[in-house]
Amino acid sequence: MLTVVAVCVGLVGLLYSLYTWLIPAAVQYNSWLALLWHDVIVEKTLNALTSSTRPQRLLRAVQRKATKGDPQSVISAIDYFCRNSEWAMNVGDEKGPILDSVVCEVSPATALELGTYCGYSSVRIARLLPVGTKLITLEFHPDYACIARQVIQHAGLEDKIFLVEGASGDLIPKMADMFGISTFDFVFLDHWKDRYLPDLKLLEECQLLRKGSVLLADNVICPGTPDYLEYVRNSPRYESRYFQSHLEYTKVEDGLEKSVFLG
Ligand SMILES: C[S@@+](CC[C@H](N)C(=O)[O-])C[C@H]1O[C@@H](n2cnc3c(N)ncnc32)[C@H](O)[C@@H]1O
Repeated sequence: MLTVVAVCVGLVGLLYSLYTWLIPAAVQYNSWLALLWHDVIVEKTLNALTSSTRPQRLLRAVQRKATKGDPQSVISAIDYFCRNSEWAMNVGDEKGPILDSVVCEVSPATALELGTYCGYSSVRIARLLPVGTKLITLEFHPDYACIARQVIQHAGLEDKIFLVEGASGDLIPKMADMFGISTFDFVFLDHWKDRYLPDLKLLEECQLLRKGSVLLADNVICPGTPDYLEYVRNSPRYESRYFQSHLEYTKVEDGLEKSVFLG
């Protein structure tokens, strides 16, 4: 009997170490394995075990740990959750400071984000915008939009962020009518990677870019946006620069591409 109990305890210990330490450490350096582990296996398992979704768990972490009306504490609470509990596809705490520095450098009067998810990068961007500037952020998944609204509200930034629900391809042509925007000073691309190039071309067609508009694209290496990179790096209409970093909360190479529209 004692042997059976010892074997069971040993097995539970082994499984626990595998789940919390060995597998996460082993997948840190491989993009495919990291995404498979964090974004498929862990997420689906925890969803089934807790009858909740990852964005709902992330929101609870914000509500528990972050101070209302304090954007920095919301950012820190999400980063803490993602480093210690569950990975999530926010731009994260390593690429985040690069995003911050570009937003500060541009100091945009008009700003657009493609891909809100839970609102992490919206909060990051909006907290740095000049007085009077509003960030327009687009999200087509209604459940993510619902969580993002609550995260944004917790950060006290609901007056600085317009979250619009819908697909970027449908909404970009409506920006002028919906918001009276003529051009964007700053665009952050962080939605599905196969939409970066078509949406950039749509922004051009709709004349929403002016000479000097700055585009910042996340995940250009992992999962990767080869057609977008090829376009902005070779077109005479853009001056482009790569900022090397890592996929959020891992050691896999990833980076941001900053491209200035030359007109
Ligand atoms: C990588 S996540 C965004 C992460 C977020 N920018 C952050 O750093 O906190 C990508 C998001 O884009 C949304 N999305 C993907 N394609 C879209 C599209 N064409 N239009 C609107 N939202 C889109 C997805 O539902 C997902 O929530």
